[in-house]
Amino acid sequence: MKTDVANRFIWYKGEILNVNDAKINILAPTAQFGLNVFEGIPCYWNDEEKQLYAFRLDDHYDRLLRSAKLIQINCPYSKDDMKKALIDVIKANEYDENLSVRQTLFVDGFGSWGSSDPTDMFVAPIPKGKTSSEYNKKGLNCCVTSWRRISDTTLSPRIKCGANYINSRAGQREALRNGYDTCIFLNDAGKVSEGPGSCFFMVVNGTLITPQLTDSVLESITRDTVIKLAKEQGISVVERSVDRTELYTCDEAFLCGSAMEITPILSIDKYSIGNGEAGMITGELHKAYLDAAKGKNQNLKSWVTPIY
Ligand SMILES: Cc1ncc(COP(=O)(O)O)c(C=O)c1O
Repeated sequence: MKTDVANRFIWYKGEILNVNDAKINILAPTAQFGLNVFEGIPCYWNDEEKQLYAFRLDDHYDRLLRSAKLIQINCPYSKDDMKKALIDVIKANEYDENLSVRQTLFVDGFGSWGSSDPTDMFVAPIPKGKTSSEYNKKGLNCCVTSWRRISDTTLSPRIKCGANYINSRAGQREALRNGYDTCIFLNDAGKVSEGPGSCFFMVVNGTLITPQLTDSVLESITRDTVIKLAKEQGISVVERSVDRTELYTCDEAFLCGSAMEITPILSIDKYSIGNGEAGMITGELHKAYLDAAKGKNQNLKSWVTPIY
């Protein structure tokens, strides 16, 4: 049955329910301490094939299991169980549009921040319509936030857990207070790390440069996709530490992630990037990204899972 967003079906602890009927204990560690790990899994509607494709599903589940292991919460489900839950709940909603599917393992019960069980899962599709958001086309005016990115020595950004987003929030709220769209974080060493919910790339003299995975960044699936797509197009890619001043003189820059796809950066701390418009390489990579995610790139068909 087709659902409206407020009454959509979600998969919750093994059942498919109206989202309003999925009740959580207010004392649960997930509610009180953000003790959960999650994925935002992009699904794209391919209108020619009348098919919905989930993008890089196995890679999302591998990261979810790494996050659960690192934060020491038990996962009661296999990868096949997780995949089936995602497919079943999308089918229940009869979605034929782009989605971001939030798939979350959470610590339930009456425990505290040190608890590791009981753990359960929900799968909640978030409908996104049939086109990329206007946000992506417009581009972003960014600042470098005064807050540092969390580090592997305190709260690892490698773990995609709810609590980590409070650091993201600090930077994002500062950016919005000061009239910017979003921010870029520096890490403990003062090198560029990432955005609050995205990875950072810049183009200098035709070379794509991004911080290393050890520079306090999430092991982003879009980051990996961009690197592979760029190499496929013959663009050289360098993963290395980036200084703050390099941000101000690069030719192109963008943030990328499952939610924002590949979104051009127009300025950083009011320094124009390139000519202040979306860059050419950025645009080409965005197009290649959408082709891959919609199952239109025959060489990369193994990255997509058909839902129907
Ligand atoms: C902090 C952070 N960095 C990077 C990303 C991009 O990761 P992915 O490409 O796997 O969505 C996200 C989004 O989940 C994020 O929250």
